[in-house]
Amino acid sequence: MKKFLSIFALILTVFGLNNQAQAEEKNMANTKKLVVYFSKTGEQYSVGNISEGNTAIVAKMIAAQTGADLFEVKLKKDTYPAAYKALTEVALSEKKSGARPEIAGDVANFADYDVVFVGTPNWWADLPMAMYTFMEAHDWNGKKVAPFVTHEGSGLASIPNKIQTVTNAEMLSGLAVYGHIAQNSRDEAQKAVSAWLQQLGF
Ligand SMILES: Cc1cc2nc3c(=O)[nH]c(=O)nc-3n(C[C@H](O)[C@H](O)[C@H](O)COP(=O)(O)O)c2cc1C
Repeated sequence: MKKFLSIFALILTVFGLNNQAQAEEKNMANTKKLVVYFSKTGEQYSVGNISEGNTAIVAKMIAAQTGADLFEVKLKKDTYPAAYKALTEVALSEKKSGARPEIAGDVANFADYDVVFVGTPNWWADLPMAMYTFMEAHDWNGKKVAPFVTHEGSGLASIPNKIQTVTNAEMLSGLAVYGHIAQNSRDEAQKAVSAWLQQLGF
């Protein structure tokens, strides 16, 4: 009898968890989604001169798969050098001074979104300062944030924590993709994106 009851309890638990996962999946499918990203063309580490940024490639994959809207964070006056080394120096000095470069345009009806995919290149283990300009300008209350990062070795670093600190949003687990994989091995990048989205319930 005891054995029967524990098997019965186990069935109930498994069934309950399964139902919960299905409900979560359904919830994610019905949410209003936005992809906000920063990405840089020009000379980039290990890929040479690129006409579409590495993070932009991943951002578009996420939007295509989830039906999310896309918003690219761009500088109002883009004075960033096209040459990689010069860019790293400007970016480091902006990070050190806590710069908040002005950005061009804004997302229409930001308040309507339930889930925001926040995408960024890893710049000195941080986000480009323009992403802070964007994040600080919006109310993230009640939103879920799924961070994704392209990088050349440092991965997500503490970028998700930084996003959480600024937005105070509920964070979902993040995705890190090598920039050169996004740029030159699209099938591999797409597989990583799809596996991550599936894991999150999209
Ligand atoms: C200013 C700057 C700083 C960078 N710092 C790092 C870093 O600290 N760690 C790392 O793994 N990659 C670093 N990278 C490489 C980028 O994260 C990588 O090339 C990324 O895919 C660029 O994305 P994008 O083309 O969307 O801008 C840096 C690149 C730049 C331009």
